[in-house]
Amino acid sequence: MSAPWSPDSWRALPALHQPSYPDAAAVERTVQALRGLPPLVTSWEIERLKQKLAEAQLGRRFVLQGGACAETLADCRPQVITDQLKILLQMSLVLVQGSKQPVLRIGRLAGQYAKPRSSPTETRDGVELPQYLGDLVNRPEFTAAARAHDPAQMLACYQHAAMTLNFVRALTAGGFADLHHPEYWDLSFLGRHDMSEELRAEYSRTSTSLSDALRFMEAIGETTVDELTRVELYTSHEGLNLHYESAQTRSVPRREGFYDLSTHLPWIGERTRGLDGAHLEFFRGLRNPIGVKVGPSARPDEVVRLIETLNPKDERGKLVLIARLGAERVADALPPLVEAVRAAGRTVLWLSDPMHGNTRTTASGRKTRDFADIVRELEASFDAHEALGSHLGGVHFELTGEDVTECVGGGLTEADLDTRYESLCDPRLNYRQALEMAFVMARRMAKTPRRPTVPPL
Ligand code: PEP
Ligand code: CO
Repeated sequence: MSAPWSPDSWRALPALHQPSYPDAAAVERTVQALRGLPPLVTSWEIERLKQKLAEAQLGRRFVLQGGACAETLADCRPQVITDQLKILLQMSLVLVQGSKQPVLRIGRLAGQYAKPRSSPTETRDGVELPQYLGDLVNRPEFTAAARAHDPAQMLACYQHAAMTLNFVRALTAGGFADLHHPEYWDLSFLGRHDMSEELRAEYSRTSTSLSDALRFMEAIGETTVDELTRVELYTSHEGLNLHYESAQTRSVPRREGFYDLSTHLPWIGERTRGLDGAHLEFFRGLRNPIGVKVGPSARPDEVVRLIETLNPKDERGKLVLIARLGAERVADALPPLVEAVRAAGRTVLWLSDPMHGNTRTTASGRKTRDFADIVRELEASFDAHEALGSHLGGVHFELTGEDVTECVGGGLTEADLDTRYESLCDPRLNYRQALEMAFVMARRMAKTPRRPTVPPL
């Protein structure tokens, strides 16, 4: 891949999981319209995130990345967005307490609208229609009109991403996200009847002791407190639809290179990380930090070549490898990858996505994931890194702040799944399961001290 790069050079290569738009001229019109609109994020924010990821690579921060599997336009509502933010903040607070480290929060939001699907069509009662590929491409209703691939969806998604981000920015800048006042963002929490007494008590203890510790540190003039308490939220999504991504990829004044300004951290999915494909070509030219999902079929030499292509200068904070290997395979599959990256002398940030390798279908046909499998994959990932003298730098979840019933365990059985199954794609942890997951990780991190950057709380 040594030919000159441009935001459109990917077009010469085979691109997997792209829509088949019937009207090429309409696509170009949409792309032109997107090119003229303001960016959703800025290069300063992107560079700042890269710095923080570089610190996480050194073991000085822990990354919490999470959000919907498929974000929808219909989800662009105040309650859904505040609930999403609330669960990410609450989880991060629990993780700060357990890890004694700053936590870097990255939402899967304001752009997570495109999905790779295993089958291009869906059949219901003998009727076959194009598969739903996410709101960026078509709509979920089972009609020919809704399932047609429509470039205008890209503009609608850009607008909804902008509205989502505007609200998230306003909330995080204001008191809602102030870590001194966790009581603001857990109002509904204490009154919930499905919350076990222990979980309630554990959360209360955690938030009280954290705010006490912050006040104490401030009282003694500890400067790191500001760094610990400033709540920032970065955005991420799978950079799947290359028309949407490249239309928002620009050079900016006084900086070199090109930034994908649709999000801070775009990632390449497991199904589109082929070394000779259009996605690698597009991503190799970006200045953004880049995530790559790494599944069980990834060979160590392939991962090293991915790194060489995406980060030829070995820039710090640039690459995030998101292993999604499955609870059964992680213990065997992760160490050779970690070793190969190390042997190649490369630096990456290792995250664990314990969701995508643990999906199964119930007898009644529901896609689900078991809380226990997710925990097993996480524990095995912590173990594998520790055994190698490496460290797990963070986690990547599909979760929601809503009380959905999509994953089993953590209070739900298979019989509960029909009660409120809303995901249009993969099953997400619900509010309670996500919070409980944060405690599992916090306990684990409290047992094995990481490199603290702040005095113990
Ligand atoms: C996802 O994160 O929703 C996804 C499709 O993941 P992966 O590429 O790991 O399968
Ligand atoms: Co998913």
